[in-house]
Amino acid sequence: MDNKNFRKHAHELVDWMADYLENVESYPVKSQVAPKEILNQLPDSAPQQSEDFKTIFEDFQDIIMPGITHWQHPSFFAYFPANTSPPSILGEMLTATLASQCMVWQTSPAAAELEEQVMSWLKQMLSLPQNWSGVIQDTASTATLAALLSAREKISDYTINKHGFTKQKFRIYCSSETHSSIDKAVKIAGIGSDNLVKIDVDSSFALIPEQLAKAITDDIASGYTPLCVIATLGTTSTTAIDPLDAIGEICQNHNLWLHVDAAFAGSALVLDEMKWMIDGIEKADSFVFNPHKWMMTNFDCSAYFVKDEEALVKTFEIMPEYLKTNEDDTVKNYRDWGIPLGRRFRALKLWFVIRSYGIEGIQSKIRHHIKLATDLEAQIQADPQFELLAPRSLNLLCFRFLPKRNMSTDELNKLNQEILESLNASGKLFITHTKLHGNYVLRMQIGQTEVNKSHVDSAWHLIQKTAASLHS
Ligand SMILES: Cc1ncc(COP(=O)(O)O)c(C=O)c1O
Repeated sequence: MDNKNFRKHAHELVDWMADYLENVESYPVKSQVAPKEILNQLPDSAPQQSEDFKTIFEDFQDIIMPGITHWQHPSFFAYFPANTSPPSILGEMLTATLASQCMVWQTSPAAAELEEQVMSWLKQMLSLPQNWSGVIQDTASTATLAALLSAREKISDYTINKHGFTKQKFRIYCSSETHSSIDKAVKIAGIGSDNLVKIDVDSSFALIPEQLAKAITDDIASGYTPLCVIATLGTTSTTAIDPLDAIGEICQNHNLWLHVDAAFAGSALVLDEMKWMIDGIEKADSFVFNPHKWMMTNFDCSAYFVKDEEALVKTFEIMPEYLKTNEDDTVKNYRDWGIPLGRRFRALKLWFVIRSYGIEGIQSKIRHHIKLATDLEAQIQADPQFELLAPRSLNLLCFRFLPKRNMSTDELNKLNQEILESLNASGKLFITHTKLHGNYVLRMQIGQTEVNKSHVDSAWHLIQKTAASLHS
């Protein structure tokens, strides 16, 4: 494709993109295709000859689009959001066009310095400790792995990197509600999943600090080396908030690394009324949240902050001759701030989003989502045939249909699963589920960039209607 054709098709695509965003509500939220339906339409091998863009784009519309689940549909109430916004998309277009590989400062000084400054803005916006340092990672999973590896190296005086494990028997602690990315990081970091200790939660699904303290003391008595605690602000099932201050105190008493996983809920820290979530943050060592979830910034963009920048860099540092530059002593070379060498220019879209909305614009979106969830919570409470199964802390509601008190758990679970499947097959909304104390839970987050009251009202009416018709 020459530049003349690139220009022509790019203009066509921009029109398509704007139309898509304008008409996204005309698509079924959850893709309705069957397994292999897309695969069976794709040729077994790549074409020998060049194909024209018109044909490729027609196939995109005919074959690919039916297999897309529309995360930017305002009635996307599933999982956690992976939001975008027009300024973020424009930033991504420029990032794709520049296609810079931002591994060291000289491979694009603007990328490195913009990242440094945008992370500093975020730190101020969220009221994180001002002497911490920030870096953009691809995902929270990667950031948590980086935290565990840094903790492992710092406690071992960077010897495990060099000699491998010798006789350390490390222990990691988190609540039973912690995200699966922690289990994965523990496996990859060589700690062993047997050494991930899951601490019980209270009635709000938050970690119980007394049980954490006991587990650590018991482990020390048994010859283990407690290494790190992961506290979650906004657990995946229910957005429970672990008590950071109390956990931080335990970590300080035993000299443990405290990593805070605020992948989803971190964005809400832009609100003064939510800052209580980080009471005690100065006792933590690292913190991650995803602008790619609830801050209208395209996936992927995960903001990782550390108290001890040196521990992070020393964990990952590697200095082959071909990567040395004259500025190494005076600039930030982010290649050693995480796992991959190569890095996308992710700061650009974040810069566009923050400037385009302003802090107040971001605050008002998040506050609006929390208000919509608060209003729906009241409606669910007012309906005797539904019950909430977890307290609401942000914009997520966990509930189930309970038409008769004498139904067994199995009957209720089956009925609620049928309700969920029927709702999602309607194409009108998409919600997901979780299980709490063995109960099947309808889990609905209200956080898509453009969601408003009419979407939530329609969803609630459909949920009530579907539940009633499946029960009768
Ligand atoms: C609490 C929590 N932590 C971590 C993650 C993993 O996020 P990522 O996909 O950025 O690795 C999630 C994903 O939803 C999450 O809910």
